[in-house]
Amino acid sequence: MLPHRSEFPEGFLFGAATSSYQIEGHRFGGAGRTHWDDFAATPGNVTRAENGATACDHYHRWAEDFDLMQAAGFDVYRFSTSWARVMPEGRGAVNAEGLDYYDRLVDGMLARGLKPAATLYHWELPSALADLGGWRNRDIANWFADYTEVVMRRIGDRVWSAAPINEPWCVAWLSHFLGHHAPGLRDIRATARAMHHVGLAHGRAIETMRGLGMGNLGAVCNMEYAAPADDSAAAAAAASLYDGYYNRWFLSAMFKGEYPADVLEGLGPHMPAGWQADMATIAAPVDWVGINYYTRKLIAPAPGPWPAHREVDGPLPKTEMGWEIYPEGLGFFLRRTARDYSGDLPIYITENGMAGADRLVAGRVEDAARIDYLAQHLRAVQSAAADGVPVQGYFTWSLLDNYEWALGYEKRFGLIHVDFETLQRTPKASYHALSRALSRKA
Ligand code: FCB
Repeated sequence: MLPHRSEFPEGFLFGAATSSYQIEGHRFGGAGRTHWDDFAATPGNVTRAENGATACDHYHRWAEDFDLMQAAGFDVYRFSTSWARVMPEGRGAVNAEGLDYYDRLVDGMLARGLKPAATLYHWELPSALADLGGWRNRDIANWFADYTEVVMRRIGDRVWSAAPINEPWCVAWLSHFLGHHAPGLRDIRATARAMHHVGLAHGRAIETMRGLGMGNLGAVCNMEYAAPADDSAAAAAAASLYDGYYNRWFLSAMFKGEYPADVLEGLGPHMPAGWQADMATIAAPVDWVGINYYTRKLIAPAPGPWPAHREVDGPLPKTEMGWEIYPEGLGFFLRRTARDYSGDLPIYITENGMAGADRLVAGRVEDAARIDYLAQHLRAVQSAAADGVPVQGYFTWSLLDNYEWALGYEKRFGLIHVDFETLQRTPKASYHALSRALSRKA
């Protein structure tokens, strides 16, 4: 059973999250090409080579989707704006249709009593900027600041919160070192540059939004609990390094203005010259921090170049992503983030959820495993709050089944089932369970 909202601290907010490329339908409304379109068009990168051309057609169906959010009793909706929809070439010309669309979206949220929580970048880099080196090019920080200004001059007066970049680790490491996401690089020099420029772009966007007079600005980082695969000192060191470049790098830069020494040992030689001078910009003060949390990894040492470790298959129950279910990790990150980095600032869980083998049978989707997953993680949140951690909200990933990046439409994370042939929406059992938990009636 899901805990009821009355069991959370006064004012605790419940939300659901989505992102532009994963739901909107990128072929609609004059959006420009993105590096995800290119990545998906390259054989072997994405399941069935699927892309976000149609996705959930939220571009035309947003009102129906927001009605479902309102009916469930959500307080806040986390969405993202697409750079290439607003500026098809990434710089210069603005697509008026794109800005009008986000304007309508924000008003549509407000009309339904939903607080708009905006993210400016959830991964669909305009291809024209990828041509110029994308996250490897230092100029991206200024291109991003310009885009931020264009978007926020239009909707910044009405959004409840804003964050520049979703999951810097995925933008940099997953996409430039592991090569799992666009642009699909496996290159340590590209990685070091992206690991730095993504922070710089974050800082420049925060400055830009402050300049527009906006408040409630934050950073959204994904975190994965790193457990040593065995009791050896070598495994402990390997897990600690994984924790360093995954979880500590960005928090340390944003809240302390420095990179962790253990990670710099490996990335230092590949960093862009003069990076030290950017740290004050990266550490531009924010008003809250968002944690996206899904799972843990078991880490063991391995031969080969830095970081010289590997992931080991774990024993815990897993979701359809093959990700172990480990709610203790969420409690750990809530406590550590407040203690070591963000202090008294509000923390939000900006994403948490699971992919399930969800099937539509006779008009129903019985996703009991998702209800259980959410319940376990919400209990971890309650316990951290009881310990005094200033956690003030929780967003489920995701409102809708959607385009799950390299896994195409195969993995279903939604509270609402989407039939990708007909685009019909069907609320799952988890949606109904959350609606009951969020009800304001006694
Ligand atoms: C997060 C992403 C989100 C989705 C979930 C499953 O890393 O922010 O877009 O892919 O994972």
